[in-house]
Amino acid sequence: MDKFIICGGKRLEGSICAQSAKNSVLPLLAASVLTGDPVVIREVPDISDVACMAEILKEIGAEVTMADGNVRIDSANASNHSIPPTLTRELRSSVFMLGSLLARFHRAACAYPGGCDIGLRPIDLHLNALKRLGVRIREREGYITCECEKLKGAEIALDFPSVGATENILLAAVGAEGTTVVGGAAKEPEIVDLQNFLNAMGADVSGAGTDVIRIGGGRPLHGASYTPVKDRIEAGSYLIACAICGGEVEVRGVGGDTLGLLLHKLRENGCKIHTKNDKIRITSGGRLKCNRKIETMPFPGFPTDLQAQMTALNAGAEGVAVIAENLFETRYKYVPELIKMGADIEVRGRNAVVRGVGRLHGAVVSCGDLRGGAALVLAALGAEGTSEVHELSYVDRGYADLEQKLGSLGADIRRVRA
Ligand code: UD1
Repeated sequence: MDKFIICGGKRLEGSICAQSAKNSVLPLLAASVLTGDPVVIREVPDISDVACMAEILKEIGAEVTMADGNVRIDSANASNHSIPPTLTRELRSSVFMLGSLLARFHRAACAYPGGCDIGLRPIDLHLNALKRLGVRIREREGYITCECEKLKGAEIALDFPSVGATENILLAAVGAEGTTVVGGAAKEPEIVDLQNFLNAMGADVSGAGTDVIRIGGGRPLHGASYTPVKDRIEAGSYLIACAICGGEVEVRGVGGDTLGLLLHKLRENGCKIHTKNDKIRITSGGRLKCNRKIETMPFPGFPTDLQAQMTALNAGAEGVAVIAENLFETRYKYVPELIKMGADIEVRGRNAVVRGVGRLHGAVVSCGDLRGGAALVLAALGAEGTSEVHELSYVDRGYADLEQKLGSLGADIRRVRA
């Protein structure tokens, strides 16, 4: 397994461009099989979650080719509706295939999805919504089989604004007869991106970005060529890296509107932030104050996917911060690793009390999930001395060219191949 050797304490200076959003690209890849025409998704990041989704598409019989960062999917000859458990368990986003396969073929089967172990992560909201659209579902020994004669538009009210369930409903409902209205929908920018992509394929979806989305189903869908939105979580991770290390960094591709609460929190830490169009510039003196409280919420609240990175920042700042994780049950598994680096953090259920120690020190640590792993990398960049960060397969799920990008900003980070 690869590891990073990181020599901490280097200021970060320079400008980088955010990659396309992982959380857009994955549902877009699932959406590509809604039509038998070729679909091209441009500027796709080289991350292992994308490679896994490409394997799933090949498994159902699609031809998937990647060249110059663009992915071309041709599912004209797709005929398999069943995704093997080995692939489903690798990647939670495999569950999106249920929506798109049902819309195209009226049948789909997969094992319960996997992904990062950050909580229970049930899919009851997905399955109940599919039932509302007329799908019969059988669950046996961890395997889910779905079928219907046709999908029928329906009114669906989500008890919780689940990102994945909202996206799955969109994917299925474009293939339904009649109109579907989703109330209590998630409002993440990646859902707006999925709406735009579906409309580029000829669908009639409106309202994404608000909590009511309307899908006029049954239109014939055709091929499209599409560039996804940029990754606000990746961009936020680099901004936090600069805050921790000190320096001046510009991140291109993401506007202040999708990272509003992070920028507010970084200002509280003592950083200066300037936003202009789709650029964010951060200046940090490196000595930071703790945030009083950070509470994760569905968009536009503070993103759970930046919780771990901000905990790492607070661990090396001055003061006391309380972090409240409201989305996932076990999203503090990286905390014992930060404690190895000198952090003083107490986890009590969904809350973590972080007593800032001013500066962390280098240690040998291991990633246990994607964002927790990113937090360890950022902590090591700011720490005194050298760190080893092991189990990089987790960060490779979501960050393309992580060490090259950080290296271009002046970080001392090296990947050692196992
Ligand atoms: C997506 C993102 C992930 C992010 C999360 C929250 C992708 C590929 N992943 O994950 O990076 O951390 O949104 O912003 O876009 N829930 C249920 N039943 C369900 C579905 C969800 O109880 O059927 C619960 C989950 O357990 C969790 C909460 O709802 O507590 C939020 O989950 P959800 O918004 O669905 O997250 P994902 O789509 O899995």
